[in-house]
Amino acid sequence: MSEFAENIKKEITGLNPIEALTLLSDIFHDKIIFSTSFGWEDQVITHMIFTNNLPIKIFTLETGRLFPETYYVWNRTMEMYGKPIHAYYPKSELLEPMVNAKGPNSFYESVENRKECCGIRKIEPLNRALQGNKCWITGIRAEQSANRQFMDNVEWDEVHQLVKFHPIYSWTLDEVKDYIKKYNVPYNTLHDRGFPSIGCAPCTRAVQPGEDFRAGRWWWEDQSKKECGLHEVK
Ligand code: ADX
Ligand code: SF4
Repeated sequence: MSEFAENIKKEITGLNPIEALTLLSDIFHDKIIFSTSFGWEDQVITHMIFTNNLPIKIFTLETGRLFPETYYVWNRTMEMYGKPIHAYYPKSELLEPMVNAKGPNSFYESVENRKECCGIRKIEPLNRALQGNKCWITGIRAEQSANRQFMDNVEWDEVHQLVKFHPIYSWTLDEVKDYIKKYNVPYNTLHDRGFPSIGCAPCTRAVQPGEDFRAGRWWWEDQSKKECGLHEVK
């Protein structure tokens, strides 16, 4: 971790998520941004940001392949808080050639094709969204996968040259659910139907009880390849 990220980590140690987000908003002013995919972790953080009027921009990567339930909770969230959520779309000049050459579902054919699709629909828009920012907030939790247990709540993102902060990194799923219930936070109803982790519709399925939270993501691929590149694994 860079010295800068180490210092940020020291500053926020002992603070609860809202206190930490407030302090980071002061430190980073308008250069702090939160990515939401409208999963329940993200809905908890959205609630913290909006109800405390924190000056943190919220954005989503609109891949064009999300579940109807995800669009529904996105809309409800905007209505409920009356605040903006910024959508970043893939560039048509990148998307059209890929779909025209390989069809709309090329990601099932190879890991290479899948990474190409994630690159166009998620990574390029993510890079645009993060441009100029100094702090990136996410809804990652340690419990979500074996890989994520070896992360930290504060990280230095070498690729984007910014500090990454996961405010509810150490929360359990029960803590997330309790918060949602306590504050009546809108959430994606797919979570009640066996989807602990929700990405694009064609690349996410429900999991069986006892399966890894992320087992339903790109389920046809090897376990080891189950990250789309949004979050580098150390
Ligand atoms: S992913 O890398 O597999 O897609 P995951 O679904 O676990 O990530 O979500 C972890 C965090 O990544 C979310 O809490 C959110 O901050 C961010 N994220 C994932 N997908 C998106 C998206 N489509 N738009 C914005 N942020 C996203
Ligand atoms: Fe494409 Fe699937 Fe990646 Fe979404 S998750 S960007 S549909 S490969």
